[in-house]
Amino acid sequence: MQSPDKIISRSGIKEGMKALEVGCGSGAFTTFVARAVGDKGEIFALDIQPKMLKQIETKLKRPENKDIKNIHLINGDALNMPFEDNTFDLIYSITVFQELPDKNKALKEMKRVLKPDGILSITEFLPDPDYPLKSTTVKMGTSEGFILNDVEGSFWNYTARFIKPHN
Ligand SMILES: C[S@@+](CC[C@H](N)C(=O)[O-])C[C@H]1O[C@@H](n2cnc3c(N)ncnc32)[C@H](O)[C@@H]1O
Repeated sequence: MQSPDKIISRSGIKEGMKALEVGCGSGAFTTFVARAVGDKGEIFALDIQPKMLKQIETKLKRPENKDIKNIHLINGDALNMPFEDNTFDLIYSITVFQELPDKNKALKEMKRVLKPDGILSITEFLPDPDYPLKSTTVKMGTSEGFILNDVEGSFWNYTARFIKPHN
């Protein structure tokens, strides 16, 4: 299990943010992020597989998660997201990009729905079988017009953080 706290801090997730998790899966990190953004923040957890969202729904019904009220579950495709332009302060994804059939299209969508100066953070780690190198992830983000802010972590577990420029 990767440390959610570490991923949260590397991703730039802060209290009060309106954040989008792309490819939330069964929500291994979603509840931790929901607590990190707090009552004044919101998490939109998007996944293409309804069965993943069902698992989060079940998790949220557990007594220890009853206090979490700021997660919105969205069944949707990262390549064509059901959100207005300039909606989010931050978008994060954890071991998702290599599953996306058109990464450039997904990045364009992320750029569209992020606010100017918003943060895109991409976390990848081994032993994900599709693990991409840091340099691959950095090139992917910058070639779609994101500005690289930082890459934190190790060879086998890193987060690349980008900023959406104003233009
Ligand atoms: C390897 S899992 C990671 C799940 C979660 N981020 C985690 O770390 O536990 C990848 C997730 O991305 C989702 N996914 C794949 N393609 C997607 C797409 N086009 N749009 C949205 N989600 C997608 C999958 O359904 C799956 O839940």
